[in-house]
Amino acid sequence: MKAQHSHPYPWLALLSLLAWGQLALATDFGRQNYLLNCAGCHLPDGNGSPPNDVPTLHGIPGLFASVPEGRAFLTQVPGVAYSALNDADVAEVLNWVLLNFSRDTLPAGFEQFTRDEVHRLRAVRPAEIFKVRDAVLATLAAKGIAIKY
Ligand code: HEC
Repeated sequence: MKAQHSHPYPWLALLSLLAWGQLALATDFGRQNYLLNCAGCHLPDGNGSPPNDVPTLHGIPGLFASVPEGRAFLTQVPGVAYSALNDADVAEVLNWVLLNFSRDTLPAGFEQFTRDEVHRLRAVRPAEIFKVRDAVLATLAAKGIAIKY
């Protein structure tokens, strides 16, 4: 008599397929939210439009991620702070941007943004974001990291 039904592998295969599908979906949200909420200005490739004062997302954000003031700044730029995304989605899209566009400049031991960190930092709404950026640039310069726009 054949016992085909009781063979466990098809179920295992199905389960792992489902798990894989969820994983792929989860990692795609950062990219999708980037394309929907950020790419209109920063362009799909993250190059921005320097003549129109939209900065590139390649390189510099990774450097910002190395100091606390810079991490705060990344959550406080208007396009991020005032986006319709919730804190968890902002964390995900920032991590996606950093890991995909600024991976080369990320600090060793880079810790990804969490929902709680974004919640805490994003609640601060600096009146003049450029002054915050200047302060971050000064902190980085003091550590020997010079950034030119
Ligand atoms: C309406 C256009 C617009 C949208 C949408 C937008 N940004 Fe921006 N972004 C800008 C401009 C302009 C600047 C530079 C001025 C400033 O700091 O506000 C900037 C600055 C930044 C910076 C700082 C870069 C630097 O070198 O100072 C980061 C990081 C950033 N944006 C990420 C994002 C992310 C992530 C999203 C989507 C959630 C997003 N932006 C949506 C226009 C936009």
